[in-house]
Amino acid sequence: MYDSTSALAPPATDDLDPLTRPFPGATPYDAYVRASVLNTLQQPFTEAPDEMGFLVTTQVMELWFTLIVHEWRTAKTAFAKDELHAAMDALVRSRRALTALNAAWAPLAALTPAQFNGFRAAFGRASGFQSAMYRHMEFLLGDKSAGMLRLHEGDAAVHEGLGETYRDTSLYDEVLRLLHRRGLPVPEHVRDRDVTATYTSDPGVVETWRQVYTGPQHDPLLALGELLTDIAELVTRWRMDHVMVVRRAMGTKTGSAGSTGLAWLERRAARPVFPELWEVRGGV
Ligand code: HEM
Repeated sequence: MYDSTSALAPPATDDLDPLTRPFPGATPYDAYVRASVLNTLQQPFTEAPDEMGFLVTTQVMELWFTLIVHEWRTAKTAFAKDELHAAMDALVRSRRALTALNAAWAPLAALTPAQFNGFRAAFGRASGFQSAMYRHMEFLLGDKSAGMLRLHEGDAAVHEGLGETYRDTSLYDEVLRLLHRRGLPVPEHVRDRDVTATYTSDPGVVETWRQVYTGPQHDPLLALGELLTDIAELVTRWRMDHVMVVRRAMGTKTGSAGSTGLAWLERRAARPVFPELWEVRGGV
């Protein structure tokens, strides 16, 4: 049981004086969190009451994208080194981040067209379509696109960073290579594929997962398959929630980046993440 008098307990005091003694400069909290920088970044373009919620939600989502990309890179490196447990730990952390990301839609979920129109024109051609961190996520999932990379050519640092993720193996490529090293039959043309091409479903990989899913129920590779399925589902849920928000806030209007809007997003949301993990379920 927790003993508040033990030497290990934090030095609790009702006296605020020692805690409120000023620091010579910024607080250690601010030196670490950079809150005073972070909290200067919310600059709405209008006085519309709903714009702050839109901007903050978008920024919060960017931060979750950053964490998810970090965890997927950690997992990818661990898979390449055959460190299955470390890779799965990172994927579990990313699953929690994805859950938090999806919960972040709440402030926008019921935006009406009139509320959205209150600030939409002010941001002009800006669109989440231009989010480089979201594109890192998609590239890591295996959804590569030279066009999505080209979009960022005007910003050298962003373009270079995204280019590395584009040219590198995806998270799923590394998973499939690990499965092969563990004795599962992953076809050679999949293992040696051009990693800059969008990953598409392969019947040989459906067979790989079929062997995992019909094998021992406590095989860690089955747990890996389910963890990847959770991630695929959460990514798809983000896309579908986005579609729902768009449908409520702007109906069938054209998107600010220039797409057809809703119809385009519905097609994007329908793309399966880790396709064979869904196909295998029909044949087990
Ligand atoms: C009222 C809220 C929102 C509306 C009406 C909206 C609308 C749209 C539309 C119409 C597109 C298609 C591209 C275009 O032509 O612009 C799009 C793409 C996108 N939006 Fe949103 N969006 C909203 C909120 C958000 C938020 C909060 C984020 C978080 C960063 C976001 C991220 C994205 C991303 C990543 C794409 C590209 C999707 C892909 O490439 O498949 N959106 N959005």
